[in-house]
Amino acid sequence: MRRLFPGSADDKVHPSGTTGETAQPDAAADGQWSIEALAKAYEYPEPASSGEEVWLRANMVSSLDGAAYHEGRSQPLSSEADMRIFGVLRGLADAVVVGAQTVRQEGYRPAREREVFARRRAAAGQGPAPAIAVVSAGLDLDFSLPLFSRPLVPTLLVTGSAAPSDRVAAAREAGVEVVFAGAGAVVDPARLPGALAERGLRRLLTEGGPRLLGQLIAGNVLDELCLALAPRITSGDASRIVDGPQIAVPVDFRLAGVLEEDGFLFTRYQRIRQSAE
Ligand SMILES: NC(=O)c1ccc[n+]([C@@H]2O[C@H](COP(=O)([O-])OP(=O)(O)OC[C@H]3O[C@@H](n4cnc5c(N)ncnc54)[C@H](OP(=O)(O)O)[C@@H]3O)[C@@H](O)[C@H]2O)c1
Repeated sequence: MRRLFPGSADDKVHPSGTTGETAQPDAAADGQWSIEALAKAYEYPEPASSGEEVWLRANMVSSLDGAAYHEGRSQPLSSEADMRIFGVLRGLADAVVVGAQTVRQEGYRPAREREVFARRRAAAGQGPAPAIAVVSAGLDLDFSLPLFSRPLVPTLLVTGSAAPSDRVAAAREAGVEVVFAGAGAVVDPARLPGALAERGLRRLLTEGGPRLLGQLIAGNVLDELCLALAPRITSGDASRIVDGPQIAVPVDFRLAGVLEEDGFLFTRYQRIRQSAE
């Protein structure tokens, strides 16, 4: 893996995970970045420096022609390096926010505990694995699946207060914590990060899908986009990574980093917020 941006003058992190003069050039002779180096590259900003109590990052992959999936799955767009970064972003997060359709279509399972993140997570006051927070209005979900009934840390279900009460009861019976973040049947995306932060979940990662991401963009709550660009063209009618309502003014981001492996670009963009926001 190569870092393309920031360039070497700004590049304080050696692929071994060490910094400055103590870098050991041989530690990553094969070009492989350690998990620790990746974790450093993707660290969440501290609230003191970002001014944000909650930080919502999205991790998405797109084909060269803008498709967010192929034959209903994102896996055909992914790679080994993409999965490594996917794992690192999970390892850093307090909670993974995901749309119900992605859960249904991709057969989501609970996040697992990984030894390599154990010390870092404990030091950051995090649980052994991120909680999965499923966003749904209809709650047409199978609560007997391991994601809901056998997670390492309880799975959350984020919905509106007018969600079907029998489904809310079924979720609770399975051990799911139900979070209401909206007055009607749907979640008010602007309230979602705050509702999770109230539960101590501040470092948020959304893994999509495109319709949920569209809602989060419309709600003006996305702080960062980690976008992997796969060197593949799929054609067809798959949606883009954001599938939401038109917004009045395009949202601007600044480039925070670019890594490359096997022709995949792993970009990281951070939201430019106006001082009044
Ligand atoms: N390229 C990538 O990185 C990537 C990432 C993730 C997924 N995907 C792909 O994307 C596809 C699925 O994405 P999608 O866009 O169709 O669906 P999605 O965003 O995963 O989920 C949409 C569902 O989320 C719930 N939802 C969204 N906004 C809500 C709100 N404001 N309030 C309450 N519930 C809300 C609704 O669930 P209910 O229907 O239960 O009410 C809605 O049907 C799959 O093919 C998957 O493989 C790609």
